[in-house]
Amino acid sequence: MRKRVIKGLKGVFNGEEFLEGVDVLIEGDIIVDIGENLSAEDEIILEGKVLYPKFVDPHTHLLYAGDRFDEFKMKLEGFDYLEILKSGGGIYSTVNKTKSASEDEVISQTLNRIKVLKDFGVGVVEIKTGYGVDFDEEIRQLRLINRLKENLNDVLIFSTLLFHVKPKDRDFDAYISDFFNRFEEYEGWVDFVDVFADEGAFNYEETERILKFYTERGIKCRLHADEFKPFGSELAGKYKCISADHLLNPSEKGLKLMAENGVIAILCPITGFFLRKGFAPYEMIKSLGLEIALASDHNPGTSPFLNPFITLFLAVYSLGMKPKEVFMSHTYTAAKSLGLKDIGKIDVGYKAMVFAMDYTPEEWAYYGDLKPVIKFPLDGDKIQP
Ligand code: NIG
Ligand code: FE
Repeated sequence: MRKRVIKGLKGVFNGEEFLEGVDVLIEGDIIVDIGENLSAEDEIILEGKVLYPKFVDPHTHLLYAGDRFDEFKMKLEGFDYLEILKSGGGIYSTVNKTKSASEDEVISQTLNRIKVLKDFGVGVVEIKTGYGVDFDEEIRQLRLINRLKENLNDVLIFSTLLFHVKPKDRDFDAYISDFFNRFEEYEGWVDFVDVFADEGAFNYEETERILKFYTERGIKCRLHADEFKPFGSELAGKYKCISADHLLNPSEKGLKLMAENGVIAILCPITGFFLRKGFAPYEMIKSLGLEIALASDHNPGTSPFLNPFITLFLAVYSLGMKPKEVFMSHTYTAAKSLGLKDIGKIDVGYKAMVFAMDYTPEEWAYYGDLKPVIKFPLDGDKIQP
């Protein structure tokens, strides 16, 4: 198979640390060597650049129609996110817009968002349903995510069935029975299940029933936990979820249970920033020994930005993480939270999903550049999961 070598680099951030002055040898789409003075028939000269693994975004709500700019203006006037949700707006407003949009419209709006992510160096995206609520609409959205998955070959997509909010017109039992009774109909389209375990969404008992059902059937779960009220992190530990995400107001008990059960903490700093609700207690999470990944949480209500460098920037300056650690959290650990074993690092045997920029992680945090990605001929290489 054709070999290519990337040369002239200032160095490589390999997903964990910075390696100075090395070349990277690629065969097909696999990294086969990293070291000094490597050679191959094809040379890609990236003079003075730093090579990074592509970003992995392990928590997004990218599939929806329209926006919530009207509510943003209400929030600027002082309305609270949960007040708007409880009065039937918020998530419900995006549910209505998405339901009434055609499949092609939803796909085309989502593709536009994916294109922006790709231009910023993102190579893997987890996409949640959740703007359907009713069984049929949730399954339609799941199918659309799978359509994207099958048709995009330069970005890897994961699909998550998200129990986001309850319908207004039925109780929990009536609502959930379709999902439980008809599991076989959609099982093949689900990589993960997630529940918004919080005030205004699913309570402790409801979340537990959902987690129990799916984990017993071998589905890995993620959880929206402790964004407003702290009870999700405990359940994430108890059911050994692959991740518990947000954790703006976590309980120490919940975090300890997560640590004991290897649950990854996925932090989404744009969300707390955008809602003006502060940030996850990074020091406490770190001191309890949890692994930390970063995500955009892109959605029209609490995190409309698409630029991963904003996440990284807030992680350094508001969460208090170190520059290398933020890049590791948005590449290596984020990939791990999706169960990926050959993506998220620049190392022998890993997929050559990489981008370049002018800076080392520390230089980037110093210069504060929010659009530093440099594309080169590897972009567009076919990815086989
Ligand atoms: O992760 N918290 C729940 N879900 C999203 C918000 C979705 C929305 O407001 O549309 C979140 O913040
Ligand atoms: Fe979310």
